[in-house]
Amino acid sequence: MNAVLPSVVPQPVAARLTRAAIFLVVTLGPGREAETAVRALCADLSGLLRAVGFRDLEGGLSCVFGIGSDAWDRLFGVPRPKELHPFREIRGQHHAVATPGDLLFHIRAARMDLCFELASQIMSRLTGFVSTEDEVHGFNYFDDRDLIGFVDGTENPVDGAAVAATIIGDEDPDFAGGSYVIVQKYLHDLAAWNRVPVCEQERIIGREKLSDIELSDAAKPSYAHNALTTIEEDGEQLEILRDNMPFGSVGKGEFGTYFIGYARSPRRIEMMLENMFIGRPPGNYDRLLDFSRAVTGTLFFIPSASFLDAVLPDGVAAPEAAAPAAADPPPSRRGDGSLGIGSLRKGAS
Ligand code: HEM
Repeated sequence: MNAVLPSVVPQPVAARLTRAAIFLVVTLGPGREAETAVRALCADLSGLLRAVGFRDLEGGLSCVFGIGSDAWDRLFGVPRPKELHPFREIRGQHHAVATPGDLLFHIRAARMDLCFELASQIMSRLTGFVSTEDEVHGFNYFDDRDLIGFVDGTENPVDGAAVAATIIGDEDPDFAGGSYVIVQKYLHDLAAWNRVPVCEQERIIGREKLSDIELSDAAKPSYAHNALTTIEEDGEQLEILRDNMPFGSVGKGEFGTYFIGYARSPRRIEMMLENMFIGRPPGNYDRLLDFSRAVTGTLFFIPSASFLDAVLPDGVAAPEAAAPAAADPPPSRRGDGSLGIGSLRKGAS
């Protein structure tokens, strides 16, 4: 049950899949000035988004802003989100590395120029206060496929189910309307993958390659990617929301998938990662990892848009100031189909 207060507006975690995205991970420099600069950006982000997004409303520009565990302590202190911690590396059959990252900007739009402009505007506010750890420009590839040739995203929850999977409810009342995200940048050995017969690739993923139809239980091995990432608790399936994007650099021979998974608890994503990297049971690991190497791994908390909007450069506003305009509809009922944070600052002084 997700009991987000109607007046708390989440960030646009459950925005639709888009044709372009920028994933920007930065670390915070030392000193109080860096902290003040980031806090000042928190409340201004919706205004930047509105200004850039208005240049093409059809472009559906959105931005989700995440904050890592150490950065949270520096920026906001207590209270802190119950399940916020640094990404925990996993050493199993393969290695899920943990890499630095204090802030994440997940920028999505139908056009890369919109994403690029917003990323530029954000960085112009942070230059001198942060170092960029990773910047990936993702693109949509034929039929929503990833670069290993499979349709990616099919079994994502949609609409109310996406909100229920991702948005914190009364399990952490101080942070209702928030979410968690794990990002990992994967590089594929495409030459090796393409040597694997398609019928074995299909057993590794658990779906047919051309039609995207799921393999039957009889045909699907227990190590299939979609078997190991299907997890349950008390007989109920625990879902996450993914918005993976292909990226690459042909001249460098770099072909990748940027994994991004949102959930109302990071434990869900961690359980999936344990199944993939260690195996379920241990040893029965995800064969996709024989061809795809995780080169980054970071965990962030996604505060609600209402929270961000109430942040003051010198600290968070008093709780009553954090309550957004009561006129804001709950996320699932916004007329524009987005969970956009764009309207939040309108009318705020
Ligand atoms: C399903 C690709 C990493 C979680 C899938 C599917 C593909 C895919 C092709 C089947 C279509 C679909 O339902 O979306 C990849 C690639 C990855 C990757 C190329 C990185 C190289 C991950 C990671 C996780 C994950 C790291 C979680 C920690 C899932 C889940 C499903 C799925 C939950 C849906 C399972 C179901 O309910 O059928 N992935 N994935 N994936 N993946 Fe991944």
